[in-house]
Amino acid sequence: MSEFEPKILAFLCNWCSYAGADLAGVSRIQYPPNIRVVRTMCSGRVDPLFIIQAMQDGFDGVFVGGCHLGDCHYQEGNYHTLKRMDMLAQLLDESGIGRDRVHLRWASAAEAHPFADYVTEVTETIRKLGPFDKEKQRLALASLARSLSGSRLRWLVGIDRQVTEKLNVYQEKTDPEYFKKILQEAVQAEYQKAMIQELLAGGPITVKEMSEKTALPVYTVSVRLNELERVGMADIAGYDGRTPKFVSPAM
Ligand code: FES
Repeated sequence: MSEFEPKILAFLCNWCSYAGADLAGVSRIQYPPNIRVVRTMCSGRVDPLFIIQAMQDGFDGVFVGGCHLGDCHYQEGNYHTLKRMDMLAQLLDESGIGRDRVHLRWASAAEAHPFADYVTEVTETIRKLGPFDKEKQRLALASLARSLSGSRLRWLVGIDRQVTEKLNVYQEKTDPEYFKKILQEAVQAEYQKAMIQELLAGGPITVKEMSEKTALPVYTVSVRLNELERVGMADIAGYDGRTPKFVSPAM
């Protein structure tokens, strides 16, 4: 049987990694031909939603390449990339897909050999994971996209450096460990709510059915459902005997 060849989408920053890939090509440095390249002006342009879309489109993994920290041509673009990718890694773990399908590396325009090594390493990691089953992960992918489309996680990632690295008007900074904990809790809550919203969008459903489909305990589904109801994003559609069924309010 022939070995599985992963299909990997690579987002490469124009100024560094893309130029590094170019140099690797003209220098005839060998690396696996598994990546399909999308050139972006900065790694900071890579919205985590693009990565989820790539997986929905059938890629087995995603590679993001940018300039080294401190070398971004837009000053702080790659610092934002780092924070976003860290948040995405947590979401991927939460979903069960796992962070190993998505990789971030820095490579300058002169680093053709390191670039080739990164591609080799990422390809081998994803090859070991095996093909990505997008059909099996349909609910997870839709829930990831929904979590990332909301404002809460984007806002938290956006203020991370501002509140943990810079002094506020009271000459105080937020403890990075404390902020990390807040983000972790937000990632879990947003992902769980997103899964429930996806199920509600499919028509009337009971808490028990949601628990079975999401593998979340009944108590957790009830808590998240209650949070959604409070903000008008879930509603009772009727009863199955004495058991309430829930839907999205739009239905
Ligand atoms: Fe390369 Fe921003 S310009 S990471």
